[in-house]
Amino acid sequence: MKVLVTGGAGFIGSNISDALIENGHKAVVIDNLSSGKKENLNKKAKFYKADIIDEAKIKAIFKKEKPDAVIHCAAQIDVRKSVAEPKYDANINILGSINILSACVENKVKKILFASSGGTIYGECGSKAPDEKAFANPLSPYGIAKHSVENYIKFYSEIYGLKYTIFRYANVYGLRQDPKGEAGVIAIFALKMLNNEAVTVFGDGKQMRDYVYVSDVVNANMAALKKADNQILNIGTNKAVALNDIVKIMSRLSKTDKKAVYKPKRAGELFKSFLNAKKAGKLLNWRPKVSVEEGIKKTLDYFKESQ
Ligand SMILES: NC(=O)c1ccc[n+]([C@@H]2O[C@H](COP(=O)([O-])OP(=O)(O)OC[C@H]3O[C@@H](n4cnc5c(N)ncnc54)[C@H](O)[C@@H]3O)[C@@H](O)[C@H]2O)c1
Repeated sequence: MKVLVTGGAGFIGSNISDALIENGHKAVVIDNLSSGKKENLNKKAKFYKADIIDEAKIKAIFKKEKPDAVIHCAAQIDVRKSVAEPKYDANINILGSINILSACVENKVKKILFASSGGTIYGECGSKAPDEKAFANPLSPYGIAKHSVENYIKFYSEIYGLKYTIFRYANVYGLRQDPKGEAGVIAIFALKMLNNEAVTVFGDGKQMRDYVYVSDVVNANMAALKKADNQILNIGTNKAVALNDIVKIMSRLSKTDKKAVYKPKRAGELFKSFLNAKKAGKLLNWRPKVSVEEGIKKTLDYFKESQ
């Protein structure tokens, strides 16, 4: 199968491209390299440096490549940037996605997989992890854009028959996540701790997130190429881990003695976010295989080697 991956030079997209090639598929990557890196690209992937906003270029690439399926990962991923510049975010994350959807329909792509966001779509969580039926309550322009694109995908599916699987990811972490970016606390802490620098925790560190390792996310994408048509699926571990526990595990594994520095809580930050992914278990036979401890170890090893 020929699969086109948008954002395939980034963290999740490059791991997906590697798996596609390992599984005998052809991978075509579109990325503007705004946060993605050329060195993340699999040598066997065909690469186009292009912006998803550039409708003419996107159309031309799709016309030439005629992919069977598309995995749409390209996005501006900085939630705070979306708050500061909602139009900038909507331009890439909504209009850019519409360009991809239109190109899919014009070129008879059979299926699109979309990287949506559970953390920002459901908002604050109570004692039970939300499943896909929970009320969507995105509070940031980034979350609003992800939710809008989900609805555009349903529209394209309903009217033009484009199949889809929408993934609502928890906090994805692992190798190739940008440690200098705004997202990805484990990558940011990994680089700091390996350089024996103190990490900064905003708030009291009791805030909880659902950390899912990137290879588990990749496995869900590989399975959904053939299954779970026209479904929305949470991808998470059903566990909420406190940031202080992440600091503890990472300090122990990286053998740092630097204490974390605590700064005032950031405005608008959620206290608790985690996801019930039973539906993915049922429809994709998917389960997260990598524990937080194991995933952190793999991430630290990766950053140690790549420094
Ligand atoms: N990392 C997470 O925890 C997480 C959680 C939920 C959803 N997601 C979603 O998963 C996807 C991948 O995220 P990631 O963590 O790998 O981030 P990333 O920044 O590493 O990957 C995004 C990629 O898209 C590219 N890109 C950005 N704007 C582009 C544009 N206009 N045209 C073409 N390419 C463009 C970047 O260069 C980068 O390679 C995103 O859609 C993100 O919103 C990520």
